[in-house]
Amino acid sequence: MKIAPSMLSADFNHLLEEIQTIEKGGAEYLHIDIMDGTFVPNISFGPMIFQGLRSHCQMVFDCHLMVEKPERYLEMVAQAGADIITVHAEATQHIHSALQQIKALGKKAGVAINPGTPVEAVYPLLELADLILVMTVNPGFGGQAFIGSTLKKVEKLAQLRHANEHYHYEIEVDGGVNYQTAKECLAAGADVLVAGSYIFKQEDRTAAIASLRPQD
Ligand code: DX5
Ligand code: ZN
Repeated sequence: MKIAPSMLSADFNHLLEEIQTIEKGGAEYLHIDIMDGTFVPNISFGPMIFQGLRSHCQMVFDCHLMVEKPERYLEMVAQAGADIITVHAEATQHIHSALQQIKALGKKAGVAINPGTPVEAVYPLLELADLILVMTVNPGFGGQAFIGSTLKKVEKLAQLRHANEHYHYEIEVDGGVNYQTAKECLAAGADVLVAGSYIFKQEDRTAAIASLRPQD
């Protein structure tokens, strides 16, 4: 399993130092939340911000685009140093094409679904996708409460992957992950845990990250 701390909860006055604490702490992915104020009721930051970090760290840049019509930004995000680009099924009429465009840019392609979107929405994409992001909160803000019913979707995706040799996607969960909900996510079959406020609120980032992993 992999841990993906969400940069959204970092102290932006000391962004590089913050990111270095989580890299040293053993995080595999840096989760980068890009919000446009339209798809979600919040605005975060654009590619300029993480581009500056790219040459200072080795973690996989896991970009989560919470923007309407994400096709408009794929090239920019790829050029800024993204390794994985995840777009929302709800944000475009052409989700399959968006994933194809991400792959054509040489990046891993992810699709995200909100808590209100049924898992069937990603069925036509299962062979193409490198990552499926199951939102465990409604996107827009860090620090919200975990929505347990979303784990049914994680279970289903794990079963489908197990049953089909052509499916290779990682299952990622995002929102409300802490040391308790992490256990539920892993039991349901999640491979990548995104955690923002839980990790960045703690001074000892190494311990915070370790506490999300299976303890035995
Ligand atoms: C929510 C973002 C999340 C968020 C998670 O819209 O996609 O990545 O930062 O934050 P926590 O872990 O605090 O719920
Ligand atoms: Zn996210």
